[in-house]
Amino acid sequence: MSIVKKLRRLAANFVFGSMRVPLRFFLGLQSPQAEVSVWLYGMDTPRDVTFHHSMACAAPFTVCIAFDKDRVPSEKERSRLSLKLREHDGRKRVLGELRLKYTAASSTSGPELMFFEVTSAKNYCLPRLRLWAHRLRAAYSIWRTGGDQSFNFKMTPLDHRAMEVIFICPRPIMLVSVLEESGGNMFPMNVMGQIDDSYFAFSLKGSKFPAHLVERVGRVALSSIPMPQADVAYRLGPNHGTKSIHWHDLPFATKPSTAFRVPVPIFSLRVREMEVEIIPKLGSHTFFAARIVHDELFAEGLEWAVAHGHYAAWRYKRHSTELVSLLIENARIKGDGPSDRLPM
Ligand SMILES: Cc1cc2nc3c(=O)[nH]c(=O)nc-3n(C[C@H](O)[C@H](O)[C@H](O)COP(=O)(O)O)c2cc1C
Repeated sequence: MSIVKKLRRLAANFVFGSMRVPLRFFLGLQSPQAEVSVWLYGMDTPRDVTFHHSMACAAPFTVCIAFDKDRVPSEKERSRLSLKLREHDGRKRVLGELRLKYTAASSTSGPELMFFEVTSAKNYCLPRLRLWAHRLRAAYSIWRTGGDQSFNFKMTPLDHRAMEVIFICPRPIMLVSVLEESGGNMFPMNVMGQIDDSYFAFSLKGSKFPAHLVERVGRVALSSIPMPQADVAYRLGPNHGTKSIHWHDLPFATKPSTAFRVPVPIFSLRVREMEVEIIPKLGSHTFFAARIVHDELFAEGLEWAVAHGHYAAWRYKRHSTELVSLLIENARIKGDGPSDRLPM
């Protein structure tokens, strides 16, 4: 290798780190995840909302937080809310922060849902220089290629930074099954979260078939996927662009779910069946809040999950062997599919 190339590689390693971690970083986690907790600040006392919030929309970037009906934030409190994402154990370091601006509320038959856009997003996972180097490179790639062509919406730099921060907290990736008389679909989804003991929220791009299908049918089954089967589940990504599928074309066997008799993967760790209650339209994504009507655990095991690459770089900074084996696992799951996309 020429001296110029060597110097260039040294400089790149210095700025970006010696190991390149993909933005959409897959990992296997015990459920419920206990790596990162999400705290709401600005009410009387800080509240742990790890299992009471969900990303709701990418553009404008919006977060949904669920509150008990008798304890919604007052108008004064609403104006000063923020989320802090903290290491769950150890020194409980703050890894990211989002300042929130209240935009709307919606009632379910359970919790009250409030929607917040983001006014600032801070990511403490990487040193500043490295973070800005990554952002400059991403901005250059968006400018050169026109961004991800499969998205027909534009995210602002703040939307991108907020996405980095929300995915500091690892999120499960599930396979969604929807059945209607004329067909149905099964596709992976990670923009979602448990928002209450018996409520789940998820978001689908408003311009794609799955959002319209779920809106029509109003009931879905969400299957947790064991890490070893993540590669076959990942291959269902293109189903987001499909009106309906032939169930027998799926690359694995299915079984009917208990309540709705919807086909779910035979290897599902857990299946939650739910009925959609409210569907506010927020921007790039359609948001669904659904009540769980049946929840069945079939097996224990590491569940397929995703986190932002910046969090992974921080998390495995001192565990390079673990990081290398996860990078190999990421390559196995992604195969020759698009390797570096935003986790949505
Ligand atoms: C693992 C995974 C998770 C995804 N999660 C979501 C999601 O939560 N919401 C959504 O609207 N699209 C989701 N998608 C869809 C992708 O953003 C994209 O639209 C889809 O993979 C089609 O890409 P293509 O047009 O390049 O084939 C997901 C895709 C994959 C592979």
